[in-house]
Amino acid sequence: MNYKNDFPLLENNDICYLDSAATSQKPKEVITSVHNYYNKFNANPHRGTYKLSEEATRVLNVARENVKKFINAKDASEIIFTKNATEALNLIAYSYGLDNVNENEEIVLSIMEHHSNLVPWQMVAKAKDANLKYLYTDENYEIGETELYKISNKTKVLAITYVSNVTGTINDVKRLTKLAHEKGAIVVLDATQAIAHEKIDVQETGADFVVFSGHKMYAPMGVGVLYAKRKHLEKMRPFIYGGDMIEYVYENEATFAPIPEKFEAGTQNVGAIIGLSAAIDYINKIGYENIKEYENNLLCYAKEKLGELGFVETYYTKDSLKHASIISFNVKKVHAHDVASILNSLGVCVRSGNHCAQPFLRKLGLESTVRMSISFYNTKSDIDKLIEGLIKVNNIFSKYVR
Ligand code: ALA
Repeated sequence: MNYKNDFPLLENNDICYLDSAATSQKPKEVITSVHNYYNKFNANPHRGTYKLSEEATRVLNVARENVKKFINAKDASEIIFTKNATEALNLIAYSYGLDNVNENEEIVLSIMEHHSNLVPWQMVAKAKDANLKYLYTDENYEIGETELYKISNKTKVLAITYVSNVTGTINDVKRLTKLAHEKGAIVVLDATQAIAHEKIDVQETGADFVVFSGHKMYAPMGVGVLYAKRKHLEKMRPFIYGGDMIEYVYENEATFAPIPEKFEAGTQNVGAIIGLSAAIDYINKIGYENIKEYENNLLCYAKEKLGELGFVETYYTKDSLKHASIISFNVKKVHAHDVASILNSLGVCVRSGNHCAQPFLRKLGLESTVRMSISFYNTKSDIDKLIEGLIKVNNIFSKYVR
């Protein structure tokens, strides 16, 4: 399996790209689809009665239907296009959270949450005098069994990530969802770090809301998806107001369009949506089973190689079935940014810092980590290059600093 040639930026290039958790590279099919859209179909959907606008509306509808099938939603109107996962999570917090969470009730989050699935819930808790409760991780970087009692009859919302963007831990979201539903809570699932690696079936996970960003699953930046059960979307008030989301507008009031348009005010990023649809076709062509098998082998190889370096400290679960695509680590006594900078000078791209997960890093007793994240377009030689770079980092710092 070598898919590097599908990705123009990686093809014939010395870049060793190990930052797919931040954003994935884009395959030719996706780039071509966006190019074709602007060359052949560009017009504002829903606005014109002329052929070109009708065609733009048609391709938008086809894309929505493709997303629906991809995640097995019941109906295409349960798919809302947003700018990214962050906007989708804010939409849920503002349009569902503020109207449904009340004083002294509880919002339960995992400590692993990215700021985008944490700060919006702080806003709801403050506005409604509700309480935030955190499910903490154990020494194996997993949500401890003993934490689950925190999901109680007081819980109104469980907001949880499918895969941690820091440790790559895969949460048992099916079980957590069942537990939350038994207590009468709704579940918000952030599938952003999972969608490129795991098949998501929204009916099987059972979550009320599922969000992800297109740009981490080979699509362009600027498009995200909010899936929600119809029963919630129909009751929720709009998040953003303006054109295309209304039915009738009078001087002092307005009525709103049915879903999904009620949540899609303004002109959408149709080019990116078309790219998302092409990315779905590309993933389907390769197949999640092949992706998972290949990535798991590569992840094992990376863990083995990192494990051979006595000067590296790693942070991931020992259970390889609960681990996806991401390894955070530190070179002992060297700041993560220094490590990333030296790796950069060798053409190795990794992320360093707190990964927009400050409470999690604090809980782990860390200020920052270096994070490598893989995709099926990576190869063992990328890992070897990373390891060579880390040996160089260690040599430099043992000579001059320690
Ligand atoms: N949320 C992205 C990451 O984890 C940007 O890197």
